[in-house]
Amino acid sequence: MESVIVAIDGPSGTGKSSTSKAVAAELGLSYLDTGAQYRAITWWMISNGIDVDDPAAIASASGKPVIESGTDPAAPTITVDGLDASGPIRTQEVTSKVSAVSAVPEVRARITELQRTIASAAAKVAKGIVVEGRDIGTTVLPGADLKIFLTASAEARAARRSGELKGKEATDLAATREALVKRDAADAGRKTSPLAKADDAVEVDTTELTLSQVIECVVALVEEKRAAK
Ligand code: DC
Repeated sequence: MESVIVAIDGPSGTGKSSTSKAVAAELGLSYLDTGAQYRAITWWMISNGIDVDDPAAIASASGKPVIESGTDPAAPTITVDGLDASGPIRTQEVTSKVSAVSAVPEVRARITELQRTIASAAAKVAKGIVVEGRDIGTTVLPGADLKIFLTASAEARAARRSGELKGKEATDLAATREALVKRDAADAGRKTSPLAKADDAVEVDTTELTLSQVIECVVALVEEKRAAK
């Protein structure tokens, strides 16, 4: 069977990660969380005392950290300079700074190259890969076999994010909604490779759907593509 490359984009809280991992696991594909890579480089910048509000400083340091992503959907990993970054990249500090770091063109060029290398390796040795992010269908993998753009109302997205954070950090719904809307506006408004739906992407509004329904819908779309290949 030929390999398949699936791009899943959309704003925060639309269920991209849960959907992408489950679809990849069900279909025997690899999985790449590109947001984790941008979070990892942000964590490295903070840890190394780089001012995240100084794009020139970020640009000149952007080639330094060694970022590695494990692509097993059952146990995805992310390391920076050999250190496990999976915990630190989910803190509120990283979440609040990642949009500024990921808007720097040198950061995007570096991470995009990494993503393309991982995707083409998976397409050669495995059945393919599900890559989730913001600009996968538009910029990173414009030739992907299938592009999905997930959306949901801001209320639904904030409620999901609050649920994920429960017990870990503040779960105030209004504050979560405000932070999420602000981050999406920054991601969609940046000059280089903003959050956007590719013209040939299938849009799935997940507001009224359960996670299982979204997974079922995406699995069906991938299978349809595979059958047509
Ligand atoms: O998916 P996430 O919330 O973990 O992503 C964190 C941030 O990384 C997001 O606010 C924008 C950035 N990002 C990006 O610019 N391009 C991508 N392909 C993925 C994420």
